[in-house]
Amino acid sequence: MAAEFVIEGLKATIEGKEILKGFNLQMKGGEVHAIMGPNGTGKSTLASSLMGHPKYEVTEGTVTLEGQDVLEMSVDERARAGLFLAMQYPSEIAGVTNSDFLRSALNARREEGSEISLIKFIRQMESKMKDLEMNPEFMHRYLNEGFSGGEKKRNEILQMMLLEPKIVILDEIDSGLDIDALRVVAQGVNAMRSEDRGFLVITHYQRLLNYIKPDFVHIMMQGRIVKSGGPELAERLEADGYEWVKEELGIEDEVVGQEV
Ligand SMILES: Nc1ncnc2c1ncn2[C@@H]1O[C@H](COP(=O)(O)OP(=O)(O)OP(=O)(O)O)[C@@H](O)[C@H]1O
Ligand SMILES: [Mg+2]
Repeated sequence: MAAEFVIEGLKATIEGKEILKGFNLQMKGGEVHAIMGPNGTGKSTLASSLMGHPKYEVTEGTVTLEGQDVLEMSVDERARAGLFLAMQYPSEIAGVTNSDFLRSALNARREEGSEISLIKFIRQMESKMKDLEMNPEFMHRYLNEGFSGGEKKRNEILQMMLLEPKIVILDEIDSGLDIDALRVVAQGVNAMRSEDRGFLVITHYQRLLNYIKPDFVHIMMQGRIVKSGGPELAERLEADGYEWVKEELGIEDEVVGQEV
């Protein structure tokens, strides 16, 4: 079934401050949706809230994946249901090797008794690492520990490729990547595009969207989508910035640190 992911009227707070203020989005398998928006508008908050990060409290709204209530699920259940987030700032976990982490993540998504064998897992991991032009030694290093910014991003894509999620959220996957790495990572993402997988690509730059072609581009401001369109919207933002959007929609600037 084509993964259908529906977010309606989502509101979320952090430490009592409302960041998401009625976020709506509908996506289906096969689609790539890009979200662009100024710093601090709540893009990463959206990503973390969807994954069930305990720091964020969802106060209103619904999220469903193939008709199932996502907000009812624990973080693990969300991952098993097929949600995946490549984080803007991936965490480092000392003492857990990359391959151990990935293998247990993979097995956690499988029924008991049908765990992937070590040999098969290593073969799969090696092949995906080759696609991503990663040094095999990264398999045995502690998760993200001492990885450069770009290496962490590549590693997030490696996880995505192995876990084969239904809904993939990429939070600034392009930040920190060099020009060649950007191409390699985008190829990895494009190879995973399919009718039963949807992508939510958060980015600041049109450049990434030259490689990962979106079907829809949404502009997010002050905790919600304020304008949607096609790839031409990203080109306009790159050329003209966000001022025209604010003028067109009559959006006032928020003063940093001040409650509105
Ligand atoms: N722990 C926290 N306490 C208070 N405010 C927070 C906390 N975490 C995030 N925020 C605020 O929430 C708002 C949204 O942050 P978020 O990281 O979602 O923005 P973003 O759209 O992803 O920005 P960027 O483009 O810079 O990545 C910001 O104003 C941020 O300061
Ligand atoms: Mg962010």
